[in-house]
Amino acid sequence: MACNVGVIGAGTVGSGVIETLLKNSQVVADKTGVEVRLAHVADLNPDLLKDYDLTGVTVSNDAKALIADPNVNVVCELIGGYEPARTFILEALNNGKHVVTANKMLLAMAGPELTEAAIKNGVELRYEAAVAGTIPIIKAIRESLAANNIHAVYGILNGTCNYILTRMAVEGLQFDDVLQQAVDLGFAETPPDLDIEGHDTAHKCQILASLCYSTKVNLDDIYVEGITKITGLDVAYAAEIGYQLKLLAVVRRVNGEIEARVHPTLVANDHLLAAVKYEFNAVYVETDIADATLYYGRGAGKLPTASAVVADVVDIARRGDAPAPAPFRYTHELPLRDIGLCEGRFYLRLTTEDHPGVLGSICSILGKHGVSIASCIQKEEQAGVPAHVILMTHDTQESSVVDAIAEIDNQNFIDEATHMIRVLS
Ligand code: HSE
Repeated sequence: MACNVGVIGAGTVGSGVIETLLKNSQVVADKTGVEVRLAHVADLNPDLLKDYDLTGVTVSNDAKALIADPNVNVVCELIGGYEPARTFILEALNNGKHVVTANKMLLAMAGPELTEAAIKNGVELRYEAAVAGTIPIIKAIRESLAANNIHAVYGILNGTCNYILTRMAVEGLQFDDVLQQAVDLGFAETPPDLDIEGHDTAHKCQILASLCYSTKVNLDDIYVEGITKITGLDVAYAAEIGYQLKLLAVVRRVNGEIEARVHPTLVANDHLLAAVKYEFNAVYVETDIADATLYYGRGAGKLPTASAVVADVVDIARRGDAPAPAPFRYTHELPLRDIGLCEGRFYLRLTTEDHPGVLGSICSILGKHGVSIASCIQKEEQAGVPAHVILMTHDTQESSVVDAIAEIDNQNFIDEATHMIRVLS
């Protein structure tokens, strides 16, 4: 059984797919009995292909010619971005071609439209590589955990952010010191704002929330907070009280509503996600039947991402001419819970003048808003230097904490806006 693959885009992921197919097609054939062949590559920049022996492979600068090529069964869209990727995918699906993509932004923005086109044409749209690179989390949710109600998913889904936060924690560096190094390592988006402002994680969060609950999720309704305001001070205080700082995607079902949010989060050292360092990704899934499962690996990079793309191609190829399996459908339109209504614990760092009654006033304001304090640390400072008070709350509704902080920050003994970080609980 043979499957001919067309690759649109020979950038980082595309070149990884080309390399994998040229190098490991025999590995695939030995393991699965299917022959997966690189048939056509299209990129506007032929220079990207100069290092590959593409004998017998059609090479063009025309994605539409690739899509129309009768020799291509599976189209891999690996250019990323919204357009022209959306048009290419729709054309391929409407041409009866299966599509494999790593395009998380496009899926998060146009998932229902692309899915409908795949269903209408009886072909597959697969996107394992779009979330957490090489980690088979889409397969796990769609197949391995099919018998489960999913209670919650907690994901470290952005290698750039996890790399920056890890180096801040391990080496005591500041955010700006590490950002350029993360970019130089090649797994950041261009520009890296999509990573550090949390939007790349939000795209993946949207895909996971849709999959977990078969629901349409409006990307713009996902609460997103990146890591640009995280200071070395907070990373250090977090470590001191037994936590690691991670940019988490949180997906949960609570009382018929969906929580889908992205923000810096304190993760206790004894939680498995706390051990996920540098550019690695991990996804922790809590379900009713299987209980907790954890998936770990490289979320970015040429070959790890290519591994997931080729795995999707192989799955399609193994099916041969059999009908496409039941497609994913957006059968619900569950409401997204407002961030203010979400419950959890909170880390607060207050910067205050150090004189009698300050702590009492802070505690009294928190109490008035129904916020209960679980622990409190004040670092001794030299006379005249503002003090840092680190508070951990018990479980509470976010809006109560936000209201309390607004009142606290209005007091004349507060020197700097209070830092609030959510805690995984
Ligand atoms: N920029 C992403 C990251 C690449 O840093 O994880 C994979 O989506």
